[in-house]
Amino acid sequence: MADPRHAVQPGTSPAPDAVWIKVTAGGPYVVHGAPPLVQMTIAVDAAGTSIGFATGKTFDSKEGMALCRCGHSRHAPFCDGSHLKAGMDLAERASFAPLLQGSTEIDGPTLALTDNEAYCAFGRFCDAHHQIWNEVQLPGTQAADNTRHMASHCPGGRLLVWDRQTGQPIEPAEPAAIHPLEDPAQQCSGPLMVRGGVRVESADGRSYEIRNRQALCRCGHSSNKPFCDGTHASVKYRDGIA
Ligand code: FES
Repeated sequence: MADPRHAVQPGTSPAPDAVWIKVTAGGPYVVHGAPPLVQMTIAVDAAGTSIGFATGKTFDSKEGMALCRCGHSRHAPFCDGSHLKAGMDLAERASFAPLLQGSTEIDGPTLALTDNEAYCAFGRFCDAHHQIWNEVQLPGTQAADNTRHMASHCPGGRLLVWDRQTGQPIEPAEPAAIHPLEDPAQQCSGPLMVRGGVRVESADGRSYEIRNRQALCRCGHSSNKPFCDGTHASVKYRDGIA
């Protein structure tokens, strides 16, 4: 059972309390509960549109493991102490308010879409088909299926799809897992994609809203730390993992 003191986004099934991530001041993420740590690569079609994830390398996951968030480790995804010399500003700047408070809504015939751009991790699944903001407004089951697919792949949880009849989000429950993301189409590495309602605790001890899909910055350049804001693509962050 999740601790009732922690805010949970509607539609999210929280991970067991033992699985959580601590953001350390000026240092790495310390991961508790040893969730699976598996590399994922954004797969694209012939037109370069993001269509899914390909599973990559599996890393040893241990209680208390430290994962890099400065972008300088030579042993990524793990911390090797490079932050001590890197001179990066790793201060957290993200809001503790529920993500939906900053979202806009678009209604379609059967689905609604909520969107909070501050949490964009630049996965680009939303650009498929007619783009999700148009697709959600189209009639028909194919458009609805496309909309759900695009939203469910959104790494940072920026996009959330709702069933207008029930008023509930459509958010398939997932087991807790952490995925170092790779984006070969942009020739860069991406955030830590965190799935399955894992609680993230700030350096000062406050918890962020628990969400099914989160993307934690590991390049060190996001303006919305600890969350990714897509800047890794413009700085061409590379984690060096084969
Ligand atoms: S990993 Fe996306 S902004 Fe740092």
